[in-house]
Amino acid sequence: MALEHGGRVHAAAKRYGIPENAWLDLSTGINPDAWPVPALPVGIWQHLPQDDDGLIDAACNYYGTTHLLPVAGSQAAIGALPELRKHCTVALAQTAYAEHEHAWRQHGHQVFCVSDEEILQSTAEVVVIVNPNNPTGRLYSISELLALHERLVQCSGLLVVDEAFMDATPEQSLAPFCPRVGLIVLRSLGKFFGLAGARVGFVLAAENILQPLAELLGPWPIATPARHVAKLAMADRVWHENTRKDLRVASLRLSGMLTRYGFAPAGGSGLFQWVKCLDASSVHQTLAKQGILTRLFDAPASLRFGMPSSEDNWARLDVALSGIKR
Ligand SMILES: Cc1ncc(COP(=O)(O)O)c(C=O)c1O
Repeated sequence: MALEHGGRVHAAAKRYGIPENAWLDLSTGINPDAWPVPALPVGIWQHLPQDDDGLIDAACNYYGTTHLLPVAGSQAAIGALPELRKHCTVALAQTAYAEHEHAWRQHGHQVFCVSDEEILQSTAEVVVIVNPNNPTGRLYSISELLALHERLVQCSGLLVVDEAFMDATPEQSLAPFCPRVGLIVLRSLGKFFGLAGARVGFVLAAENILQPLAELLGPWPIATPARHVAKLAMADRVWHENTRKDLRVASLRLSGMLTRYGFAPAGGSGLFQWVKCLDASSVHQTLAKQGILTRLFDAPASLRFGMPSSEDNWARLDVALSGIKR
């Protein structure tokens, strides 16, 4: 069964009778000001993907590591990693990107869902942490994670850290500590770069994990045009720096706006804010009736707000929030 994700503007348009192009989609954590993709070289669609096209070097430089595997979005690795391990116990956070739990359960592993705090003390053989967590925004420190990794590795365990939302705060990343036995870091080009449709992600790990994973996923996981765009985007340091600054400002602005209208976020990251409120469902509907799509979570009742882009969109959200009667 497919899990629910943000970004379902088509379904919202049908449900609320508002044309697709009239929506302000805040339901994902995808940067609305994506890396500007240039015109593609002539002939690029005709060429099979090449391992030595410079993508791996660009990614190693960007992440500060030496071993990685490009995959068709980090989702491809999330689905495949449970196949690489014999049945075992797995700890995950209760409120986190649900595809991890789904994948480990589907492959017959015994999954325990614990709180964002309890997970650091887990005695499971595999621990999966989303850092910063989506949607709670809990950011685990490098020292917390290295201590957990140290404990796991003594019992041949495995720590998987999903850093899909880490690009805004690279100084908190475990990427420079890879490759290390028993450690897997997942990265995505979908969020910070805003290139979710390109389906490019990376697995940072030791060779004993990368090699069987590559075999499992098969040849040519990423299309040549997507590899080309990813390589250029990852080398664009000026854009990285400017975008980090812009996202810091936007994230604070969003948190401030939500707080002003009684929706103080319980957590957030550079790409979203998370609001816990008992009336999340009715707030979600009130905003949707005005063509503003948020991501609704049932347990706990909460809403995730992605970043608006233009000033018009900020103003539109401001007006909609100011009109909510509670
Ligand atoms: C925490 C987290 N990890 C991984 C993914 C998968 O991203 P992608 O496959 O685009 O790299 C998502 C997508 O929403 C996510 O939220």
